[in-house]
Amino acid sequence: MLFKQQAWLRQKLLVLGSLAVGSLLYLVARVGSLDRLQPICPIEGRFGAHGQAEFPLRALQFKRGLLHEFRKGNASKEQVRLHDLVQQLPKAIIIGVRKGGTRALLEMLNLHPAVVKASQEIHFFDNDENYAKGIEWYRKKMPFSYPQQITIEKSPAYFITEEVPERIYKMNSSIKLLIIVREPTTRAISDYTQVLEGKERKNKTYYKFEKLAIDPNTCEVNTKYKAVRTSIYTKHLERWLKYFPIEQFHVVDGDRLITEPLPELQLVEKFLNLPPRISQYNLYFNATRGFYCLRFNIIFNKCLAGSKGRIHPEVDPSVITKLRKFFHPFNQKFYQITGRTLNWP
Ligand code: A3P
Repeated sequence: MLFKQQAWLRQKLLVLGSLAVGSLLYLVARVGSLDRLQPICPIEGRFGAHGQAEFPLRALQFKRGLLHEFRKGNASKEQVRLHDLVQQLPKAIIIGVRKGGTRALLEMLNLHPAVVKASQEIHFFDNDENYAKGIEWYRKKMPFSYPQQITIEKSPAYFITEEVPERIYKMNSSIKLLIIVREPTTRAISDYTQVLEGKERKNKTYYKFEKLAIDPNTCEVNTKYKAVRTSIYTKHLERWLKYFPIEQFHVVDGDRLITEPLPELQLVEKFLNLPPRISQYNLYFNATRGFYCLRFNIIFNKCLAGSKGRIHPEVDPSVITKLRKFFHPFNQKFYQITGRTLNWP
């Protein structure tokens, strides 16, 4: 009997102990994330004449809770609106380049307390059907945020789509534009790998990269192949420059974002006039994934989906050399226009 009672008591103590440890961990995590939020950053020109605005921590806590309830369906849109949460048009857009690391950039920027990301690619400006739905449709696709925060979206197709610069200009001529690029041949192979994977998933066969990238008749680089054309960054950028001055663009080195993300993110913070809030703590290298992953606080962290960081097929080295030689003059022009030299081969 005594033994039974002792066992029961031990079990109870164990449950209570786990609960206490769990609550403690939760509180530490919560305080961590609220700490990040407290002095919502000063974004130049957004606070009027009175300088930097700061939210009282309690109000923030409450609003975060309300937003959570809204997402769960327990709070009405009216309640959310009453507490200043708004759907804002983006102040900055990651316009491309496809396979440059656009998702990693968006997710990493979202670590900043003043940044709110649109999770999905919205394809408003490159898709005629979406564009015809109007700017309010676009705004309603944006996440809820506090007025002092900035919303960022990414749709990599924007960079290469003819009509997009003019359309974005019409929405906001002073918008900030982020372009993340990788060494053009690597990017083209990454692009090919994504398409190849899609074909394989449907049990379809596909050409080898070499066959697509090199014209069999001339043995020259096939400029009709989309993966090649997308990597001629300067050609696309020149179209954008008809609408926006170069100062409104920031080039992110996508190869460096893979190996050394923090300095690249710090450059973006500067470009966006955000106080530096992303730190090494927020980024940790995951050896299994072979990439940096994101740490929000001691409990919440995440790596990008498995579709990011695919293994590329082996490509004939002579084709790689030919492609690199082809891209070289375009790269030089790109460095010259953007003022960012990336030392690609
Ligand atoms: P690969 O799959 O070729 O390696 P996008 O998001 O524009 O489609 O870009 C995908 C690329 O992002 C991946 O290309 C990968 O190399 C790169 N990337 C950069 N940082 C990453 C990270 N932290 N985790 C996973 N992929 C990352």
